[in-house]
Amino acid sequence: MTDQVNPAKVQKIPKINGVRGMNDLLPADAAQWTHLEHVLRDLTRAYGYEFLRTPIVEATAVFQRGIGEVTDIVEKEMYSFEDRLNGEQLTLRPEGTAALVRSVIENNLLYEGPKRLWYTGPMFRHERPQRGRYRQFHQFGIEALGFAGPDIDAEMILMGQRLWDELGLQGVRLEINSLGQANERAEHRTALVAYFEKNQEQLDEDSQRRLLTNPLRILDSKNPAMQDLIEGAPKLLDFLGEESLKHFEAVQALLKANNIPCKINPRLVRGLDYYNLTVFEWITEELGAQGTIAGGGRYDPLIERMGGKAAPACGWAMGMERVLELMKVSGSLPEPQAQCDVFVIHQGGETLTAAMIIAERLRNAGVDVILFCPPDGQTASFKSQMKKADASGATYAVIIGPDELAKDEAQLKELRSSGEQKAVALDSVVEAVIDAIVGATE
Ligand code: HAM
Repeated sequence: MTDQVNPAKVQKIPKINGVRGMNDLLPADAAQWTHLEHVLRDLTRAYGYEFLRTPIVEATAVFQRGIGEVTDIVEKEMYSFEDRLNGEQLTLRPEGTAALVRSVIENNLLYEGPKRLWYTGPMFRHERPQRGRYRQFHQFGIEALGFAGPDIDAEMILMGQRLWDELGLQGVRLEINSLGQANERAEHRTALVAYFEKNQEQLDEDSQRRLLTNPLRILDSKNPAMQDLIEGAPKLLDFLGEESLKHFEAVQALLKANNIPCKINPRLVRGLDYYNLTVFEWITEELGAQGTIAGGGRYDPLIERMGGKAAPACGWAMGMERVLELMKVSGSLPEPQAQCDVFVIHQGGETLTAAMIIAERLRNAGVDVILFCPPDGQTASFKSQMKKADASGATYAVIIGPDELAKDEAQLKELRSSGEQKAVALDSVVEAVIDAIVGATE
């Protein structure tokens, strides 16, 4: 009896898909991310910011206390779970600031004085996925801790502008506002509640709820039916005291002196509870509904609220997916890069051994090399290898067939412009490739 399987009975193993709203970064897009990451590294160096990486998982309390219990993020968007082994309440970080502050306090980083810090990495929010809005997304953020003056607010905004210029982003506008201090907000809040209570019949369901919990967020409502009501609401800016106004005006003056245009948006309140004084967002109309590419502001109360010694702080974060999307729209994405400089072709057996040695020597000399490896473990025709060499974007092919090997030689072929091919002694391949690369760049 043969051991044959009845195809009708073979069940196809179902594939497993990724989680909705969480995307793979595919090789075709990797170069764009690397480019962005390089620009960000240069930017942070140019302003003296140091890198800090926190874990992706934190105690849930970090965000409950940091971001605030009555925020969309904490109320409905966090990926929180209980550690099965010890019952700890944990959360996949929805943002970087509260976690960074937790780390700064725990590691006593402000002991020696103020700090300029930056971070990047995946964040998680259970939002409805759409263009520019994901459940796993990536942020780049900068945080300056221990600086009280308007100078750091302005410096951080200048960094943003420099970044957009560097990345070739078009159509980004800066909106700023001041949230004043807690007592000023309390007075405003009283006036706001009174105003909305007087007009309660015009509030939608969400806003009715917010009236009791976080009335400031009503100003954030996108409901067209409520826009007139919101427009007529008491403005926080009218409740700011002298000190707060002075800070806000100083930020604006520094921006003006540096030719950074900005629009004051009295309705800009941000969705996280830790802010005071200056808040700001960079917005574009080019990306549809999710047009805020970055946002942040001053958060002087947070360090103390997280259990540290009170210290002022300011920062912002940008959505990397949104920025890359805007680069695409602005036509400023970098050209796709070649995978390697040299593609090495052989015919298996001894030619493979020689090819592998040459490939290693080339890499020792700093040349990027792909060595052909046949998918079936056998060998492949010269023609199909040349096709692969072409697709790799390599500028040169080094070809070692049995004829070449018999003469201790390789063929060096230029692939992109001249197509020129010449025999080179095996011992001189590295030299010949380097000469060719240097010659081409001169
Ligand atoms: P945020 O405004 O919540 O602020 O997020 C900053 C940026 O992250 C947004 O402007 C947006 O570009 C991006 N972003 C947010 N949610 C998503 C999402 N679901 N999908 C894609 N991109 C998204 C913060 O997180 C604060 N920690 C910023 C900050 C730093 N404030 C002070 N320091």
